[in-house]
Amino acid sequence: MGSKCPAKFQNLDFCAPSTHDNPYEMYDYFLEHEPLYFDEKNEVWEVFRYDDIVRIERDTETFINGEGCRPNIPADPGMIYQDGEQHNKQRALVSSGFTPRQMRKMEDRAREIVTELVDNMLATSGEVDIVADLATALPMRLIADMLDIPQEKRSAVQSWMNTAIQGGQGPDYVTDEVNDAFSAFVMHHEEMHAARLEAGCTGSDILTIWMNAEINGEKLDESELLFEHILLNTGGAETTRNAIAGGLEQLSNDPKQYDALYENPDLIPNAVEEIIRWVCPFINMYRTATRDYELHGKVIKAGQQVGLTYPAANRDPRHFSDPHTFNIFRDFSKDSKHLSFGLGPHFCLGASLARLEVRLSLEEMTRRVKSIRIPEGKEVEYISSSFTRGLTKFPAILESR
Ligand code: HEM
Repeated sequence: MGSKCPAKFQNLDFCAPSTHDNPYEMYDYFLEHEPLYFDEKNEVWEVFRYDDIVRIERDTETFINGEGCRPNIPADPGMIYQDGEQHNKQRALVSSGFTPRQMRKMEDRAREIVTELVDNMLATSGEVDIVADLATALPMRLIADMLDIPQEKRSAVQSWMNTAIQGGQGPDYVTDEVNDAFSAFVMHHEEMHAARLEAGCTGSDILTIWMNAEINGEKLDESELLFEHILLNTGGAETTRNAIAGGLEQLSNDPKQYDALYENPDLIPNAVEEIIRWVCPFINMYRTATRDYELHGKVIKAGQQVGLTYPAANRDPRHFSDPHTFNIFRDFSKDSKHLSFGLGPHFCLGASLARLEVRLSLEEMTRRVKSIRIPEGKEVEYISSSFTRGLTKFPAILESR
């Protein structure tokens, strides 16, 4: 550790949730002065700069997912933990549930859900919670519909997943509660799997599509199916929730930008990108080095993990002008593309679905809601986590147009 490093940035535990509470001053320090940092407590490296993340994500010979992409947590059979051919195979099979035809169906369904949720919020006299009433409800209902989860099971599944994802912060966070939530989900998966087998796999839900999917005679085996099912729930629900709620929070603070979207809805797709850059719902993914690798005068040793700190890279001034300003007019052709969805072979499979959900939320909210105001004495509450970023509560009074 260099002697000039301010005391508050020394000996940081990057798996501790509090390390990433209001983290931008800390990220800025590392972006500028110490772009490769060794976290001694967890024995993992951390990188921050945009170019370093790009370099590592692209060098799939040197940096692999197969030894785990969460810090010190072993890999499971899901696609995100696979490399090379095995990853290609699983990703291709799972993609069969994300075809353009599926996406079109999803758009119609997502529009119906958003319309209903905005109707309900506007019918509420007084305060709503944008996290619960819109941002959580939309992705959860869409995923539950995609999977055809029985109505009575939906809120339990959501709560297991909210708990299970906390285990992704590191071994100290894999608590009994996390293990119980995980086991409950496994039982739920087994019930769903058995019901589909019994029905002869004739349904059109995504689990059935995955069970039937076959490429060159290869299918997903049972444990792959289970972990893709988990990945869809953990990867797809909380992240999108945080993008929707975090974006609307920024816009509620800046009525000029909110009004600009109402006056010119063509700006919405660009606003979606700025929101996803700004919120950056996943803080990091990890890779493991297969050989010694020198970077910034230090050596990442073979077998060591390195964390890709996406929200820091999204504010790297080498790639984004005025990076700490939320700006729906940001010119991404002059700046770089944000890294919130990662890059390379593991680039988020659900990116178009996530963009669609954020876009529809903005379209319906700006079209029907004149202003979003946080009630006097109330505050937005944030997640404290070393894996996910976003809001847990967004109390608001909505004024309809
Ligand atoms: C704003 C919302 C979302 C964000 C920020 C996000 C972010 C990410 C990131 C950072 C990765 C890892 C990329 C890498 O390692 O290079 C990833 C992978 C993945 N995401 Fe998302 N995600 C979002 C929404 C979704 C949705 C809605 C789904 C599905 C319904 C989804 C499914 C997946 C899957 C299956 C992978 C693994 C891909 C692979 O390993 O090939 N994500 N996502």
